[in-house]
Amino acid sequence: MATNIKAPGIGASQASDTSGNQWSSRLTFILAAVGSAVGLGNVWKFPYIVGENGGGAFVLVYLLCIALIGVPVLTAEILAGRRGGASPIRSFGIMAERDGHSPNWQVIGWLGGLCAFLILSFYSVVAGWALAYLGYAVGGDLSAAGGADDVGAAMGTLFETLLASPAALVGGHTVVMAITILIVASGVRGGLEKAIRWMVPGIFAILAGLVIYAAMASGEFGRAAHFMFAPDFSALSWDAVLVALGHAFFTLSIGMTAMMAYGAHLQKDAPLGSSAVAIAGLDTLVALMAGLAIFPIVFAAGLEPAAGPGLVFVTLPIAFADIPGGMIVATLFFLFLAVAALSSTISVLEPVVEYIEERTPLTRKGAAVASGGAIWLLGIGCALSFNIAGDMRLWDRNLFDLLDFTTSAILLPLGGLLIALYVGYVLPERAVQAELAGIGPRGYAVLRGLLRYVAPLGIATVFVYGLV
Ligand code: PHE
Repeated sequence: MATNIKAPGIGASQASDTSGNQWSSRLTFILAAVGSAVGLGNVWKFPYIVGENGGGAFVLVYLLCIALIGVPVLTAEILAGRRGGASPIRSFGIMAERDGHSPNWQVIGWLGGLCAFLILSFYSVVAGWALAYLGYAVGGDLSAAGGADDVGAAMGTLFETLLASPAALVGGHTVVMAITILIVASGVRGGLEKAIRWMVPGIFAILAGLVIYAAMASGEFGRAAHFMFAPDFSALSWDAVLVALGHAFFTLSIGMTAMMAYGAHLQKDAPLGSSAVAIAGLDTLVALMAGLAIFPIVFAAGLEPAAGPGLVFVTLPIAFADIPGGMIVATLFFLFLAVAALSSTISVLEPVVEYIEERTPLTRKGAAVASGGAIWLLGIGCALSFNIAGDMRLWDRNLFDLLDFTTSAILLPLGGLLIALYVGYVLPERAVQAELAGIGPRGYAVLRGLLRYVAPLGIATVFVYGLV
């Protein structure tokens, strides 16, 4: 039984007094889960992979992946976390044994732990870019570039200069990892919880403002909307479908036990299905808004939609330079982006720390420093792959791209596949039904069908076509 729960870092500071380890309300849970889901994946990654993969058809496939695979797997993962009770990495092994199945289901936990390491090492580098841009907004570099004759080119140069500097990239990455370790180590998240409370609405408000700006000032809103929503299937490859599927997992923080850690502290009677839909809905909205803010600027400034990872950092500052009070907006935006990234990084580190804490004599602090330190080392390699180690390539990818690809396109969907199979077939049906009491018989039948057939077959098909 779940006798070995330690004081959880995630739920601790808002625990209800009676149970000691639960979210104070379902809303707090949703907020934290949205904090994990909404991050660089939505604002940085989504727009640039839409640009690289041809627009509308890719977006459509992505939305289908979210609805048909992402939401069911998210529900399953929160369910498994709540039922498992132990640290998320160990939960599957424990649950399987408890129900008389092979303890080898523990492999889901190992995969998740591995993913956490790999994801955080490159994610933290990009979060460092957001911090650097916060510095550029405050320090005047953004307005200087905004005053250039060719603003687009000047913003491009600013970004390239950042990437070319090992010290800046390693420095940003170090700050992000240090803050992440500090928050997870203390397990006290009072400050961060308050931050999340206004960060999510804040990022929302700024993005909404930018969408309106882009619609009114760029003159290219129609073209951008067409690019994003008019599917041209000739532009779609199986590689792109694999990227869309992988990103659905990445953006919802699923497939690697991060959401399980949050689910473990959710009240027994809180409804799961509607929570998952709300989390996925908000996450998708933020991603689409980011796209609608960025692509009009891309077209108006004559930039390339397929420009790659620099897209958001080059385009939005063009808008900031143009609007009155733009540098204040820019400061707020990059601050929010950094906070949004941090509310994701802590959710990546949390399962690893809970596991180490449970299985070794290390304290929470020791576990956070040890695992975070290892991730920090790997992240230095990622940071340097933009400059001095750029020539070190494997399968035509530098370390950063390699980690991004293997986690998003392979490991997360694989973890999701196993989670769907586990909850769909292995977990006793009575237990699943009890956990899902809120969604009614019809909702249950739909979810079960999605978990047993649609998600596994969908993921397997995309693997077969996308990888071979
Ligand atoms: N979902 C986060 C984002 O979109 C990234 C993340 C992935 C967080 C996996 C936790 C686990 O930015």
